[in-house]
This record gives sequence, structure tokens and C-alpha cells, in this order.
Amino acid sequence: MNQAGFLTVEEVAQNLKVTRQTVSKYIKTKELNAIKMNKSYRIAFNDFEKFINNNSIVGEPKIAYLKKSKNCLLDYPNKMDEFEIRNSYSKGTLKLVEKQHNLRDNIFVFGDNLFVLKSLLDTHYGKIDLVYIDPPFATGRDFNTIDDHSAYSDKLIDNEFLEFIRKRLILLRDLLSENGSIYLHIDKKIGHYVKIIMDEVFGYNNYINDITRIKCNPKNFARNAYGNYSDMVLFYAKNRDKNIWNEVKEKMLEDKRKQLFPKKHPKLGYYTTNPIHAPGKTIDGDTGKKWKGLLPPKGRHWRYSRKVLTELDNKGLIEWSSTGNPRKIVWASEHKGFKIQDVWEFKDKGLSYVEYPTQKNFDFLERIIRNSSNEDSIVLDCFAGSGSTLKIAEKLNRKWIGVDNSTHSYSVIKKSFKKDSIKCNFYEYMSLT
Ligand SMILES: C[S@@+](CC[C@H](N)C(=O)[O-])C[C@H]1O[C@@H](n2cnc3c(N)ncnc32)[C@H](O)[C@@H]1O
Repeated sequence: MNQAGFLTVEEVAQNLKVTRQTVSKYIKTKELNAIKMNKSYRIAFNDFEKFINNNSIVGEPKIAYLKKSKNCLLDYPNKMDEFEIRNSYSKGTLKLVEKQHNLRDNIFVFGDNLFVLKSLLDTHYGKIDLVYIDPPFATGRDFNTIDDHSAYSDKLIDNEFLEFIRKRLILLRDLLSENGSIYLHIDKKIGHYVKIIMDEVFGYNNYINDITRIKCNPKNFARNAYGNYSDMVLFYAKNRDKNIWNEVKEKMLEDKRKQLFPKKHPKLGYYTTNPIHAPGKTIDGDTGKKWKGLLPPKGRHWRYSRKVLTELDNKGLIEWSSTGNPRKIVWASEHKGFKIQDVWEFKDKGLSYVEYPTQKNFDFLERIIRNSSNEDSIVLDCFAGSGSTLKIAEKLNRKWIGVDNSTHSYSVIKKSFKKDSIKCNFYEYMSLT
């Protein structure tokens, strides 16, 4: 700020990552209040904040973000400003081509997702609880099926790819509900740039996790490099701490069960035992006194009051060793599962086992949908491919919307939905020009 409390047009442009001309346009259209000082415009800081609030979907966090993150935005040629992205693409119509039910959702739209998302804003602004997308990864190659049928092309690279993603993310943010979240699947070559784009669009404060997904078996290639057997999933909320979160747990597998609950009761199943005392001495309290003729070991106290210990013992939940040492019984059947961490192993099937190249693992999608949506939620995948996300959303009784612009995706989805008796209304995007 060159004068206390005021910003120059240049500074506003830098903050918003738009051109000076765009800022002048905001001033001309009176969207942004400005004062003329020595022949040039100045914008009072309060007016600037008001402008951001009026134009921001995320409200306060965006201001904090803009103030904080001025220096870590990606800059590249032909980066459009948000205002232009929101306003420069005309909307077409979604033409119903096959009707299989009377619901508003559970639809697939064939078309370029930029235009389709724009059209969906009319009907679904702020209504989508979960977005999962698995876009092309800027690999520079084409993807074909096992029998060499062309599925989709992944030829956009560098800044063109980043801008392609950014435009869609801006529209997706508008479609997300206040409790919504987005998972973006990407590889580790371009993924870190996409993270910065997502910070810009959703706000650094709304970043939740960067999940490492183990995607295949270890690789044994000749290159002088570590084997790359993982990709990444970037997880953001529309509003941090308001996002739907169902705390799905990871089930205990047999290996872990053997390790953690090695003992077996003939009738009641597997269990382990834990000490009933903990570090720390009680001077006068109940937990420092004799229970069943025993004092807690030196420097320790009973974990429970003596009344509770007696209750546990009466219920058969205390195991006494042959030397008279009591320990609490914990049953494997009561284990609630493990907190899910940020490394997930869900390998994809090889090309010869899937309907569509790069088709994602169903169990992996199920974890995301269970955790971040509810039964009345709408799940959106606008890079739908084989329709895997839509199928799992259907299985879990969510509503869903799929979009893809590949004719092969369109026909694979039609065929596999028919096979699985999934009812879907099919639309095609029609441009108005
Ligand atoms: C990596 S694949 C998605 C695979 C999918 N997750 C699955 O499990 O089958 C990427 C998909 O994005 C689609 N796609 C690429 N650009 C698109 C665009 N502009 N509009 C709509 N779909 C697009 C491609 O046709 C392709 O099907």
C-alpha cells in the first residue's frame, strides 16, 4: 500500500491476479468503489474487502487467503482471470436423448465439461456435496482400449493443461455445496502444480489431505530412479470443518488381528489383555488404594476406580494370571477399526480386465464416497470415463451426475449401466451458436 489505507489499481490487480484493464472495468461498472487521487484511482482497503466479499463464494477465508498467498500463486501465459472464466463462455443446452427415470439427477451428459458445468450452474449451483475427478494427467499421449479402440486423448501439457484444470475447478467450486468437498486424482509429475492451482481456487485453508494412492505392484524398471507405484489425490473442502465427514474406519485384517488379539477364548473369540494400572502415583485417592488385596505397582495407580474394577471382574473382563496379576480383557469383536491414514493401497486392474483405460479401483471410490457424502448427496464426476464413480455412488444410494466427452466413454457407460440395471437419463450438450 503506497498511501495509508489505500491500494493502487496495480496492487488490486496483483492481489486478484487479474489485469489492470479488468480492475478498471470493475471500477467503471461500479462493482469496485474507487477514489481519484492525483489523477489516478485509489481503492480504500475496506472497499477492496467489500468487493472480495461480494464476489467470493467462500467469504472470509478467501480474504485471508488472498492476503496470505500473494506470493505463491502460479503465473503462466494466457492465464484468464476468474471473472472472464465465469462470464466468457456462453451456455448451451442439455438435450435429453434417452429417458429412463423421472428424477432430476442420476444423469450422464456427453460433452465438454467446461460447457456442461457452466450449464449445470443454472440447476445445481451450491448443490453438489462431492466431486471426484480423475482428469487426464498431462502425459502427452493417447489412451486406447486393449483392442486398440481410441478412448481419449491426453495431449494438453504444461500451462495449457493447468489452465484447462483451473477453469473447470472454478466452476466446480461454484457447484459445490457449503458442506461439499472435492477429490482430484493426479500423478506426481504435474500434481504439485495442480496443488497450487487448487490452493488458489479453493483456498489454502480448505486443503485437507494429499493422499498417496498405491496404484500397482512395485516396478522393476531399468531407469536410474526409484520405482513409481503411487499417484496422488488432492482433497479440499469448500469450507474447512464444514465438510461432510463420516469417519469411515479401516477394517482390521487377519494379520493385524493375529498381532493385536492373539489369545482365544473357547466361546467368546479372540482377545488381548491390557494392564489395569498406569504411570503416576495417587497420594490419597481411591485409585492408589488396595484392590482385592493388591496395591498398584510402585509409581503407578489403578486405571479405574476400585468400584469399576470390581464390576469388570464380576463381568469376567479381568484375566488373572497364574501368579495373580490382573489384566483387562479387550475383545477383537469390539474393535472399531483403524483411523484411515493418508497412504491408501487400492491397485487398479490391468487393461485387459477393465472396460476403459485408466478405470479406477471400485473400493477406492467407495471409501471416498462413503466418507465425504451422505445418502441424499449428489456426487459429480465430470471426467467420468467408464462411469466407475457413478456406479459406486448408485450402489451407495447417492444421487449422481457424470460428464465425459469421449464417444467411447459414452458407449461403455451405456452398456455397463444396462448390464447392471442402473437407470440413467442421457443428455448431450448442444451449443447455442
Ligand atoms: C483418466 S480418465 C477417467 C477414468 C475414470 N475415472 C474411470 O474410473 O473410468 C479421464 C476422462 O476424462 C475425459 N475428458 C477429458 N477431457 C474432457 C473434457 N474436456 N470434458 C469431458 N471429459 C473429458 C476423457 O474422455 C476420459 O474419459
